[in-house]
Amino acid sequence: MTPTLQTLQADITQLDVDAIVNAANTSLMGGGGVDGAIHRAAGHELVAECMTLNGCRTGEAKITQGYRLKARHVIHTVGPVWHGGGNGEPELLRACYQNSLALAAEHGLQSIAFPCISTGVYRFPADQAAEIALEAVKVFLQKPSSIQTVIFCCFSEADRARYERLLSPIGATQQSPGQGGVAEDALG
Ligand code: APR
Repeated sequence: MTPTLQTLQADITQLDVDAIVNAANTSLMGGGGVDGAIHRAAGHELVAECMTLNGCRTGEAKITQGYRLKARHVIHTVGPVWHGGGNGEPELLRACYQNSLALAAEHGLQSIAFPCISTGVYRFPADQAAEIALEAVKVFLQKPSSIQTVIFCCFSEADRARYERLLSPIGATQQSPGQGGVAEDALG
């Protein structure tokens, strides 16, 4: 089956998917933003498992259980801090998506939801980040894998509209209210 790309405005901690991706920091000890939300929703067992992982380098990804989350797993990845774009930030952000997808596929996962990695505290320009994210996912999905659904879970309507605009030229499935489909189901 051809994998589908979906964009959704939602709180990623509410999604009923195989894995949600956390925009973490290199310590994996939690933080603010989506990192804080995921740790709060998953409960204290999440940080306890993270403590066994010995951190995570920028651009890399590590997987844990989801604990109290609806999602079965959390894939923790560390996006680059934006310093103007000349320090490998685009390549590192691309690596976050590719390594998260590769890790999900290694575990035979079928559905994965990404937040807009690096576009909050790390100040990566949102338009450029969305283009990098979509390109990285499209390239990954050209090879067969267990991945059937990739959701770009946007916290703001502006971010959702940004992805929607980028997605429509490639004819991917967009979910709008009442259309049903995985994105609606993923809200659990
Ligand atoms: N669900 C989905 N998306 C969310 C949620 C949520 N519950 N909360 C925040 N976001 C969105 C933000 O609106 C932003 O679009 O996640 C995106 C990433 O923003 P940040 O969480 O600030 O992540 P990032 O920019 O990658 O910075 C990571 O911030 O919280 C710390 O520990 C974290 O040091 C790390 C840094």
